Amino acid sequence: MKVLLLGSGGREHALAWKIAQSPKVEKLYIAPGNAGTDTVGENVNIKATDFPALKTFALEQNIGMIVVGPEDPLVQGIFDSFKEDDATRHIAVIGPSAKGAQLEGSKEFAKGFMERHQIPTARYKSVTSENLDEGLAFLESLSAPYVLKADGLCAGKGVLILPSLEEAKKELKEMLGGMFGDASATVVIEEFLSGIECSVFVLTDSQHYKVLPVAKDYKRIGEGDKGLNTGGMGSVTPVPFANDEFMEKVRVRIIEPTINGLREENILYKGFIFLGLINVQGEPMVIEYNVRMGDPETESVMLRIQSDIMDLFEGVHKVNLNTKELVLDPRTAACVMLVSGGYPEAYEKGKVITGFEQAQDTDSILFHAGTALKDGQIVTNGGRVIAVCSYGDTKEEALKKSYKVADMLDFEKKYFRRDIGFDL
Ligand code: AMP
Ligand code: GLY
Repeated sequence: MKVLLLGSGGREHALAWKIAQSPKVEKLYIAPGNAGTDTVGENVNIKATDFPALKTFALEQNIGMIVVGPEDPLVQGIFDSFKEDDATRHIAVIGPSAKGAQLEGSKEFAKGFMERHQIPTARYKSVTSENLDEGLAFLESLSAPYVLKADGLCAGKGVLILPSLEEAKKELKEMLGGMFGDASATVVIEEFLSGIECSVFVLTDSQHYKVLPVAKDYKRIGEGDKGLNTGGMGSVTPVPFANDEFMEKVRVRIIEPTINGLREENILYKGFIFLGLINVQGEPMVIEYNVRMGDPETESVMLRIQSDIMDLFEGVHKVNLNTKELVLDPRTAACVMLVSGGYPEAYEKGKVITGFEQAQDTDSILFHAGTALKDGQIVTNGGRVIAVCSYGDTKEEALKKSYKVADMLDFEKKYFRRDIGFDL
């Protein structure tokens, strides 16, 4: 089968690496891809949200399956767009319908969904400029810190956590006044939950599901989880606290009510569900839903899936995922993200990356996040540059290998965190 993968980050290089290993794949294209994806498939210069161009390409190349990496095409309705068109209906699309993608596309929808299906999550109130007074009163009923979330997609920047009531009230008004444009015309105010977070990934065909390896990501730029939020500085899987007892609670209280709830509400969902969970004294609660895989969790999760991922995707398409086997690697996988100096604020691009030959002699796996080819050399082309991923019998061993390679690769102003996994 010919496969088209959408996206251009480290997540997509990891997915491409895994998809390309399948004997079922005759040819893999990535749109638009990066310098890494081009080594396991062929990049196509089409934006992941340009549906007309994607359809034309898919028909010309006889693509049998589209795997969607990022959320934007899903929230914009790529699944429905392909299914509603007679010419493209036969193409499998791995990802939810637009309605299903609202679990990520609208925080208000996600909270309402959890409320309807009794899925454990923080208490909340949804506010617009029409009921600002109720929002201010709700804030007064909570204790510090205060959590404000823009309803719509904000490229991971729409959540504010504020230490005082005064600041929370001020920021609430600014958000409603257009701080994030239309995305914050509605704001969800939430009770603050304390605990340690983890990312649970589920693959569903709308009737059956498989739980993929649980991972933890590290979002802050600084060691000890200090400083600004980033797209993710590293990840580790498995997560020791997500043991059988915890995962049984996740399955019964969260995963099954989510899949049954989608079905009851006639929402077609054939793809990944990413549960951002927090462990509140042993009890899992949902912080957020995403409708795609996580980045940089995917970079370590893919290392631990031994089964043919295309076989699982075929199960999703044909709604017989229950007949497929998910075999996992028992080892730990850890990923360390090399980033451009200055990120997540201003940084420079175009720095030549060296050390690839040396890194090739190790058993670490490199996934490109923000790189480009320039005059035959690989240069930096983003804030997050390369994810260095390794296996180990323990977390320490996996990380030691990743750090060794993180030190071998070099570019001007390279930065990475040396404490990934510190809290596990
Ligand atoms: P989100 O975009 O919803 O994932 O939120 C970003 C981050 O904010 C999460 O990963 C959490 O660390 C934090 N966060 C979100 N909601 C809450 C909450 N109700 N209580 C505590 N922390 C939260
Ligand atoms: N690593 C978190 C995310 O992908 O949203």
